[in-house]
Amino acid sequence: MPRIISPSVLSADFGHLAEDIAMLDRSEAEWIHIDVMDGVFVPNISFGFPVMGPIRKGTKKVLDTHLMIVEPEKYIERFAKAGADVITIHLEATDDVRGAIAMMKKAGVKAGVSIKPATPVSAVVPYLDELDLVLIMSVEPGFGGQSFIEGSTQKVAELKAEIDRCGSRAVIEIDGGITLGNAAEVYAAGCEVLVAGSTVFASEDPERTIHELLNV
Ligand code: DX5
Ligand code: ZN
Repeated sequence: MPRIISPSVLSADFGHLAEDIAMLDRSEAEWIHIDVMDGVFVPNISFGFPVMGPIRKGTKKVLDTHLMIVEPEKYIERFAKAGADVITIHLEATDDVRGAIAMMKKAGVKAGVSIKPATPVSAVVPYLDELDLVLIMSVEPGFGGQSFIEGSTQKVAELKAEIDRCGSRAVIEIDGGITLGNAAEVYAAGCEVLVAGSTVFASEDPERTIHELLNV
């Protein structure tokens, strides 16, 4: 199975964002993960459109946009226009998952849905035929640098079995607490895309760490 690393800009140095984006652009990371938090869906506020613009200008890599916001439907089109390639909304953030997926498709982006640690895999199964991506949160969304919740690997394996059973094209992404110590087990469970924030940006040599995460 292909392996993709999606370093999370949340852990970047915002005083030198252009340099960090240039580093990611040179690196073996194929995607760049953009965490948008509204202070309502999660107890933290990150950034939005003004930061998307310079990131889009600085790289041609896939912008993997993780919306941790309520009423995501209101902003899907704007994030697509701001340069998102993949948009992932939270299952828990909308009453109309199917409608949100249709909006993402209409906006011309890959459509993803994420589930929080307490949400079972079964909740996302009804949408698998329409989705390009399912994001399993392996920490409570809101902050970088937390520890991986054991049991998340089991959720990946369960989701992989469902995807294979129904012939969905959806890829599995995992987000939160990914390290060189647990990357191998989540790949083995069927995960293709690993988000990594602090593991990459707290490293002395982020480009090398990205290489290592791809080759565990
Ligand atoms: C948390 C975010 C993550 C975060 C991951 O809500 O969705 O993308 O940046 O950070 P690490 O890899 O440090 O757990
Ligand atoms: Zn994220």
